[in-house]
Amino acid sequence: MDEFETIAEAHGRVHIRYAVAADQPVLQAIFNHEVAHSTSSWEWLPLSNEDWRGWFREHTRDDRVLLVAEVDGHVAGFAAYGSFRTKAGYASTVEDSIFLEEGYRGHGLGTRLLRQLVAEAKLRGVHSMVAAVTGDNTASIHLHQSVGFREAGRLPQIGHKFGRWMDLVLLQIILDARQAP
Ligand SMILES: CC(C)(COP(=O)(O)OP(=O)(O)OC[C@H]1O[C@@H](n2cnc3c(N)ncnc32)[C@H](O)[C@@H]1OP(=O)(O)O)[C@@H](O)C(=O)NCCC(=O)NCCS
Repeated sequence: MDEFETIAEAHGRVHIRYAVAADQPVLQAIFNHEVAHSTSSWEWLPLSNEDWRGWFREHTRDDRVLLVAEVDGHVAGFAAYGSFRTKAGYASTVEDSIFLEEGYRGHGLGTRLLRQLVAEAKLRGVHSMVAAVTGDNTASIHLHQSVGFREAGRLPQIGHKFGRWMDLVLLQIILDARQAP
């Protein structure tokens, strides 16, 4: 953190809204930058336009949510949820993704986006949300824990990128108190 306490103090007015088709290239650029430069995504190669269109379509289906964070009108990041696993029995659980552009991190914007995403999921009757985070991604682990996720599992050396083993940390939040589905 630097001298600024909040994203508003650091940058300006924050507006969180649903994604629209015109956001696709900007969100793709934010995501692909991470793919190329960090282990926050497990992808090795940037997603092609066709693959990104597929991802976007999947995350803007009727039962999905894709939120965009604008700061002073500039699209600075996104948060979404999609399938956790595709088999029918996992239907009541979703998995989130959250990515901010460099320069917009560490001032509470991720917290605002993730809180809103969790609220949207609750409204839609989602029972549980999972985050699958690289073991050394302290910012993401901290973010999810601060929004109420609890560590639910850790898989050591389950993957690799940039010539290094990567651990996977699974975090989960249960969103309602239903005794049965
Ligand atoms: C992970 C990410 C979404 C977090 O959003 P953010 O706006 O930077 O996080 P916030 O400022 O809202 O901080 C959330 C919490 O994490 C902590 N945190 C933020 N950055 C941190 C860091 N680098 N190291 C340790 N803790 C950190 C904050 O102190 C805060 O904790 P608190 O609520 O207990 O005070 C953002 O950093 C990002 O986009 N990173 C690159 C992509 C990525 O890793 N995506 C997640 C893939 S699973």
